[in-house]
Amino acid sequence: MRPTGEAVPAVTGQPVETVAWDPAWETGFSDIDDQHREILARIGGLQASIREDGHRTACDNWLQLLAGYVSVHFECEEGRMVETAYPGLGAHRSAHDAVRLQVNGLLLDHLTGRQMVTLSDVSEFLRGVLDHVATLDTDLAAHLRRTARSEP
Ligand SMILES: [Fe+2]
Ligand SMILES: [Fe+2]
Repeated sequence: MRPTGEAVPAVTGQPVETVAWDPAWETGFSDIDDQHREILARIGGLQASIREDGHRTACDNWLQLLAGYVSVHFECEEGRMVETAYPGLGAHRSAHDAVRLQVNGLLLDHLTGRQMVTLSDVSEFLRGVLDHVATLDTDLAAHLRRTARSEP
């Protein structure tokens, strides 16, 4: 599934409901780009399930699928950072940890019934993801390109 709707600019401070992939977010590394698209698709699925299902089973599933895939993606990026001795690893990993905490907090609150996840929660999460892709992941991609060029 792919998110639908109008493309909206990232990091505007305005509500972000649905988002289409912006080619400006391409890192040029197909594994990372595919994973970013998949994360946006899962966010889109979660948004749709909240609208359509009122927080029931589909929403539970999408939120778990999102949290799990975010973890997989971050492990992939962190692996690339370690392999290439990325000097920004510490700061980037800390940013990943903050996102992990955010999405797992949403998941825990939702599944325990303490606080059902809302469109506003997802919008805030999406804004953070887009900001991360546009800044830290773009910096990482520049490093990966430099590293690839310097290899024998
Ligand atoms: Fe990242
Ligand atoms: Fe990323």
